Amino acid sequence: MIPKLFVFVLAALFCNAFASDAECPQGAVLSPFDPNICYMVSSNALDYYSAADFCEQAEGHLTSVHNAFENSYLRGAASSIGADTVWIGGSNNNAKGIWKWEDSSAFDWTDWGPGQPNGTAGLCLSVSTHDGFWYGEKCAQAKPFFCKVNPTKRGLASCPNGVQ
Ligand SMILES: *[C@@H]1O[C@H](CO)[C@@H](O)[C@H](O)[C@H]1NC(C)=O
Repeated sequence: MIPKLFVFVLAALFCNAFASDAECPQGAVLSPFDPNICYMVSSNALDYYSAADFCEQAEGHLTSVHNAFENSYLRGAASSIGADTVWIGGSNNNAKGIWKWEDSSAFDWTDWGPGQPNGTAGLCLSVSTHDGFWYGEKCAQAKPFFCKVNPTKRGLASCPNGVQ
């Protein structure tokens, strides 16, 4: 019988090998925690909808954010380009003012700042490098932004349970 620990270590080795195999399109960097996500950081400030177009031309979307790891990574990347706030890919530009991601993924995690969301429809989502929180802002403002794009070469879709 093959010891469980051995199988686990083997799985971990292969998992890491595949993960490090992932490659991003030019100008994008691999997520440190998900081999199926690449981020493109643009320090060029654009209004929200122009930023969204830019990301779509790069075959991605303004980024969705689904957990605290992703949020703090993006906050750090925004800090490193000297931005106060950056656009991420959410808006509530619809009759009911419901917040949605540009990439149509579930709006399943939030990091609203104090007093947010403030009930106004037609706003777009920024993340602040000062507190890491999200703010609904006027979409016409020009801000640096983050796209989420697919790797050109995929890593392992997901590691086995318990393997990082
Ligand atoms: C909500 O925030 C937006 C954008 O900053 C602002 O224009 C609007 O006046 C705010 N609404 C309320 C009710 O505070």
